[in-house]
Amino acid sequence: MAISKAVKNTIDSVGKFTSVDMTHDPKWFINFMDEANCLPDHEIINRKLAEVLEPLDYKSIIELGCGTGNDVRYLLSIYPDVTEIVGVDLSEAMIAEANSRIIEGSRIRFEKGDGKHLHFDDNRFDAARAKLVLMHCDSIDTTLSELIRVVKPNGKVAIFDHDFDGLLIDHSDVKLTREIVERLSNKAKNNWSGRQLFGRFLNHGLVNVSVEAISVNLTLGVLRSMILGQEDMAHLSKAEQAWWEELVIKNEKGLFFASFIGFLVVGTK
Ligand SMILES: C[S@@+](CC[C@H](N)C(=O)[O-])C[C@H]1O[C@@H](n2cnc3c(N)ncnc32)[C@H](O)[C@@H]1O
Repeated sequence: MAISKAVKNTIDSVGKFTSVDMTHDPKWFINFMDEANCLPDHEIINRKLAEVLEPLDYKSIIELGCGTGNDVRYLLSIYPDVTEIVGVDLSEAMIAEANSRIIEGSRIRFEKGDGKHLHFDDNRFDAARAKLVLMHCDSIDTTLSELIRVVKPNGKVAIFDHDFDGLLIDHSDVKLTREIVERLSNKAKNNWSGRQLFGRFLNHGLVNVSVEAISVNLTLGVLRSMILGQEDMAHLSKAEQAWWEELVIKNEKGLFFASFIGFLVVGTK
């Protein structure tokens, strides 16, 4: 049974990270990010996104699409000498959550803002970062040029984005697995953002550009949230219900495996 359009419109899913405040349940997005950020490979990305800023002459950092502020808090914990980290996010719900988790007396500030037109002067920050953000933005190029604009000459820009066609799921039904991955990819705002970052950095004039591929091994829960959002399994076709059932059984046996490829790209202004 196909899902009716009316039902589809009320379902929150990762494709709506571009407009969290307009969704039925912004809390779902906060919970999703909390679950994703607990994946061991996300911790690796977070650490590498911090390490690429070394040696840390960078005293002032902007974190675009900061979400709940998870990565900002981590950055400050390992670089106590940083003077200022400004987390910017389009979503008021995310900013409110980030502020509720702020460490007292810290040099962190969270502000509502849109990556397409940042409310900061040129050359304001020593470095700029964004994790899992450009893949959800309306215009990657405008957002990237804004990040570059607010960074000082010789400052670094570090971005991690997934590539939606790089979702690999171990399943016996190859055809349906490909269909499900393709459908998810087609729904994404910028489905190839990951693989395009290298070229975009060069096109925007950044130098010393490096790329590292990092695959994030997923839990069944995170995969389910990525593909189905808040959709009820009961609305799926029989074939898709059977597809998920196989993954549940694999998971019970400790055989579940899914991994999502992304790219950490760093460049200097
Ligand atoms: C997938 S979440 C990632 C959050 C955080 N970077 C992390 O890894 O935990 C994407 C975030 O980008 C924000 N976002 C989407 N479009 C944006 C834009 N144009 N400007 C600023 N933030 C944006 C969303 O509100 C959301 O909080």
